[in-house]
Amino acid sequence: MLFDLRPKERREELFGREKELEELRRLIRSEWVAILGRRMMGKTSLLKVFLNEVDGIYVNLSGIKSMRGFTEELMKRARKLGIEVSVGPITVNWTKLAEDVFSKFEGKIVGLDEVQELPSNYMLKLLKKIWDTYNIKLIFTGSLIGIITGLLEPSPQSPLYGREPAKIELEPFPREKSFEFLEEGFKEFNINPPRSEIEEVVESFGGYPGWLAYYGNMRCVRNFGHRDALEHVYLEGKQILLQELQKFLETKKYPDRYVKLLKLLPARWSELEGSLNVNNKILSEMLDNLEKAMIIERKGNTYVIPDPIMRRLVFDL
Ligand SMILES: Nc1ncnc2c1ncn2[C@@H]1O[C@H](COP(=O)(O)OP(=O)(O)O)[C@@H](O)[C@H]1O
Ligand SMILES: [Mg+2]
Repeated sequence: MLFDLRPKERREELFGREKELEELRRLIRSEWVAILGRRMMGKTSLLKVFLNEVDGIYVNLSGIKSMRGFTEELMKRARKLGIEVSVGPITVNWTKLAEDVFSKFEGKIVGLDEVQELPSNYMLKLLKKIWDTYNIKLIFTGSLIGIITGLLEPSPQSPLYGREPAKIELEPFPREKSFEFLEEGFKEFNINPPRSEIEEVVESFGGYPGWLAYYGNMRCVRNFGHRDALEHVYLEGKQILLQELQKFLETKKYPDRYVKLLKLLPARWSELEGSLNVNNKILSEMLDNLEKAMIIERKGNTYVIPDPIMRRLVFDL
């Protein structure tokens, strides 16, 4: 069901990502891969569908911030697959234990979802070890994976230098694809909403499969009317994105500057420079941070907030 709120797991349920699936299949033969994309773009769905087809192992690391948590999650997965992993004596080196678990995954493709909160120094060393020692293919994803520069753009000093994963960037559906997605989803419920409503949904939420599916679910499963469904998705989406934005701002010394910048968008460099009162170096750093967190994007010469819900919530800040 297209309007199911869970990540999709089978190819028949995954809409419009055939090219990306093929790309993943092609790349993973010789490389590790990072699936990039903002929230609700369908990263987890793409990963799960693919892993199901290749008998891979899915590991969800959302909210996990320590090597211990990571290792425990890996062990849980291993046990589910009937693989025994024994924990040694009392003093446990979690990174070493994680490696032990990985050694049992020899020959497999392992997907690590939402990896960004793990301590990157330990993670990167572990990854290097895996790369050098085992025949294991890894796929990484997560909305904020862009902030792990040591993974995606390792410097010559970084453990992963020369081993960085290939990237697949998930884009929103083009306009026509979004219409098709909604129409097909509604068809599964034998509902035929007026074209004007569908247009308004696509105007409001762009081509983000997650927001579209959410709207569809409200209409078809929860039986909301068009207006209520629109409003509900916006409010719910706002909550999620606001949290993400706050998390980002918390790590910054001058959060107000960032808010001010965001409110100026869409804008060109020169306009930002004129209004923000910061030097070039700082401005460029701020834009870089926002880009890595996938909050903004550069379109030609203009910086924009691509997610329509984020746009509206920044306006309301
Ligand atoms: N290509 C797709 N086809 C059908 N549904 C999708 C697709 N991509 C995402 N969805 C739906 O959108 C929502 C968010 O998808 P998810 O894979 O969790 O995104 P992400 O991991 O990027 O945040 C889920 O309800 C999922 O079922
Ligand atoms: Mg996800």
